[in-house]
This record gives sequence, C-alpha cells and structure tokens, in this order.
Amino acid sequence: MRRRPLVGLLHNPAVPAIVAAAPELVDCLEVIPDRLWHDFGAGAGRNRFIVAEEPVALLRRTLGDRPLSGHGLGLSLPSDLPLDEAMLEQVGALARRLGFAWYSEHLSVFLTPRGSVPGAQAGLGLPVSCGEDLMAVLAPKLARLREAIGGIPLAMENAANFAEVPEAEEGEPEFLSGLHEAGRADTLLDLHNLYVTERNGGTSAGAWLEALDPNAVTEIHLAGGDEMAGFYSDSHCGRTPDAVWDLALRWAPRFPRLRAIIFEFHETWFPEIGLPGLIAELERMQGLADSCVREVADAG
Ligand SMILES: [Fe+2]
Repeated sequence: MRRRPLVGLLHNPAVPAIVAAAPELVDCLEVIPDRLWHDFGAGAGRNRFIVAEEPVALLRRTLGDRPLSGHGLGLSLPSDLPLDEAMLEQVGALARRLGFAWYSEHLSVFLTPRGSVPGAQAGLGLPVSCGEDLMAVLAPKLARLREAIGGIPLAMENAANFAEVPEAEEGEPEFLSGLHEAGRADTLLDLHNLYVTERNGGTSAGAWLEALDPNAVTEIHLAGGDEMAGFYSDSHCGRTPDAVWDLALRWAPRFPRLRAIIFEFHETWFPEIGLPGLIAELERMQGLADSCVREVADAG
C-alpha cells in the first residue's frame, strides 16, 4: 500500500477559519484535551472536570470526517509525582468520545508540585534527565495511559531545552529510541524544539537526529518561535523558520512510519501570521508530505 503522511494543524480557536478557507490543505487535526475541559481540582471530587461543550462542538464541526489526535499536557508523565488517575480517566473518556486516532504526551514536565491552584502548570516544559531512573518512572505510567486510551498508538514528544541537562545518563534521542524499541511509545519529533535546544547552546539538531532510530518517528511538529530575555523560545508565534524547514526537508522522507506532519501556532499570533501565511505554510507542508510517499507492506 501507498503511505503518505497527513498534514494538519494543532487545534485552537483560529483554526476553524483556516479549515473553512482551505479545507483541501488540512488532512487532520490535533487537539490538546486539557483545553477542552475545566479542571476544578481534586477537592471537587466527582465534579472535578466539566467538559467545555461549545469548544467540543466547534471542534467536531471543523473536523468533519478528518482523523483527530490528542496531544496531552497535564499528565506530566516523566515527573516523579504519582499519576493523576482522575485526569487519566478524563483523557480516556475524551479519547473515546472524540475517537482519537492516536495520542501523544511530552518528555518534559509541566506540573509543579506546590502550585497555588490545583494542577498548576509551569509556563514552559521543564527538562528531564534521561536514563534508567526516568524509564522506571515512565514505563508503568505509559502502560496505564495506553490502557486508558483504549490501546491506540502512543508517542512521546522531545523537549525544547534552554540549558544543558546536567548528569544525564543517556541522551534524549537514545532514550526515545529505547521507548520505541521496547514497544512503550513512538516518537513525536518536534523539529522546532530541536532548533530551540540548538539555538540555546544545546545539542546540534543534526547530531540529535543522527542518534534517533528513524523507525521510532510517527509524527513531526513544525512551529515558530522568537527571542525572549536572551533565549530563543518555542513560543509558537510564527511560521516555521528556514533552518527548521531545512531539517524537515532533509529528514522527514527518512522516517518510514511517519503518519502526520502538524503545524503548531498560538491563536494570539493568528493576526500576525495571517490567513495567507497559514495557507502558504500548509501548502509547503503538503509538498513535504508528497516527498515522504512510500510503498509499504502493511499499515504497521
Ligand atoms: Fe510540539
């Protein structure tokens, strides 16, 4: 069979206008489930989560019959905090209700242990130190998550780091390759995150990619960022920079299991990027997907 990766957008309130203007350029959507509910904290008991029905209905109308994937933020899987079972159940319920085709989470930590509000999240993904200790924390949580989402494919996204992670036993690409080889999770490769790490003095994107098992990658994220307080950030404030496009054009065709290429932007930047900018980005992504077409024996 012929496999061509899908091209899509991370859903936000600006996305319906883009899909309406260029439906043929958007093959799939991805949504952050945490943005589709209100979380009133553990003290609220059975009333902790209330689904935001209007945004869910708008997402469904926008989606039509396209595939939808979930992209979670709130479980903070690599953290040593216990798994939030109530949130896990909520993720599972939404995955069933919306029919997620696959699910992804982050190889970074967002939950802060002593936040002033329930489930308080750090504004940025905090880095984790890869190695055996992390695998011991992560493996059982991934198994629980996979069960909660009904066994759909699961992937973990590489982090955007602003400083070198001290005393890591293992590199991030080796760790992600290990997750794949053990059948625990595939890799959601965020190429802009690699660029952020490189721009801030970390591992070069090329060296990182050379160390990753190409069979691990099932999804690519593209995005833009900007300078903030002397750092280059993954602020999702614009189109994908040329340096990230260079990585995408060179590497995407090398990933035999690549399922989707998703562009992430924050809705507050929609007026700056503009509808023509978004359409041009999607057209370029469709060209990238064309370059990744391959014959495969089965859907694997
Ligand atoms: Fe991403």
